Amino acid sequence: MTAAAALDAGERLTRDGLAALQQERLRATLRHAYDNVAFYRRAFDEAGVRPEDCRTPADLPRFPFTTKADLRAHYPYGMFAVPRERIRRLHASSGTTGEPTVVGYTERDLDTWADLVARSLRAAGARPGDTVHVAYGYGLFTGGLGAHYGAERLGCTVIPASGGMTSRQVRLIRDLRPDVIMVTPSYMLTLLDELERQGVDPRTTSLRVGVFGAEPWTAEMRREIEERCGLDAVDIYGLSEVMGPGVAQECVETKDGPHLWEDHFYPEIVDPVTGEPLPDGEPGELVLTSLTKEAMPVVRYRTRDLTRLLPGTARVFRRMERITGRSDDLIIVRGVNLFPGQIEAVLLRVPGVAPHFQLRLTREGRMDRLTVRAEARPGATPEQRAAAAETIVRRVKDDVGVSVAVEIVPPETLERSVGKIRRLVDER
Ligand code: DLL
Repeated sequence: MTAAAALDAGERLTRDGLAALQQERLRATLRHAYDNVAFYRRAFDEAGVRPEDCRTPADLPRFPFTTKADLRAHYPYGMFAVPRERIRRLHASSGTTGEPTVVGYTERDLDTWADLVARSLRAAGARPGDTVHVAYGYGLFTGGLGAHYGAERLGCTVIPASGGMTSRQVRLIRDLRPDVIMVTPSYMLTLLDELERQGVDPRTTSLRVGVFGAEPWTAEMRREIEERCGLDAVDIYGLSEVMGPGVAQECVETKDGPHLWEDHFYPEIVDPVTGEPLPDGEPGELVLTSLTKEAMPVVRYRTRDLTRLLPGTARVFRRMERITGRSDDLIIVRGVNLFPGQIEAVLLRVPGVAPHFQLRLTREGRMDRLTVRAEARPGATPEQRAAAAETIVRRVKDDVGVSVAVEIVPPETLERSVGKIRRLVDER
């Protein structure tokens, strides 16, 4: 079977066919939201728009945004567009940035989700018959179950490892010989360290593909993981409010940023401050409108994720650039804006430093101080550590434009990720 023959019907659309489908689905979604969710009816009425005013996607900016605060205000079931009895599953967002939000799926929504994760896995290089180790957390988080049903849908054998119990994870990888691993990139590093601790060269494991997401990571991190583990590392994107993992997926043959599954989600980029729509290619905040969701349609949902839209390559759908950060994660130090990913990119190019780091923000008098705590690689000498610290200070100043303090801590001292990692400790 050629790669093209394996594409599903959505992936084989032409750009024109896709536009027609989006238009039809967009109108149906706006109608469904307006008719069945009091919040959308009120919001559209206040903005003076009716579902039928959206004749083409170009009309979408006339419609109001939906924010996380709107979802919270209608906790738990206020955003649902179908009776509770038609909901087959609930998930909830982690609530790390505030109160939780609940999301729901009908049977058809779960079916679509499994199809899209299966499509994502195939784009990542997985094939029916492969064994897939899922180390995203199972439970209210969408990562575990979302990955799980998609892998089953593709025809894979699933190892539902969930997050945590790192030495057992490594045992499972050694014994059950998975071809594919789905995990956050930060937890993958923890697994690699544990493999090495057990005397196993990660390059000798059965793993061929890693499907990494749920948190920002950099091109430098891709290189680190690929070199250490000898697999293809690709990016999977998603968010619970819109579905979960599988909203966008990077193709293994191009590794040029995730393709957004535009037959199910309509993307826009807006200025994060003014909300003004921006043309393709311009960086800004990703805004998503669901096109097929029944239980909880979302109209112009502000993701807070910063990226830009690029033309399709391996697929007809547009790509998004790897996420540079969330507007929530922006750190402002003495007037300079930076994202943890910029520090990651610097650290991973400095010899003697492991990819484990933490950022500490403190205040001295009226000045903010950012300390980068990075771990030494095992075996790095005191001289190498001192040289690494100097290099980091200089490169962060040159590349990011801010002066930081650097502390190189001994190997195995920083807290390890078991899921989504929190890089910033704000002690101000
Ligand atoms: O993290 C869904 C997911 C699970 C995606 C597993 C991929 C793999 P939430 O917990 O709702 O859902 O968090 C969503 O995580 O808005 C981004 O800020 C961030 N995020 C997700 N994928 C990526 C990625 C899941 N590939 C939030 N790169 C999103 C960067 C990502 N950030």
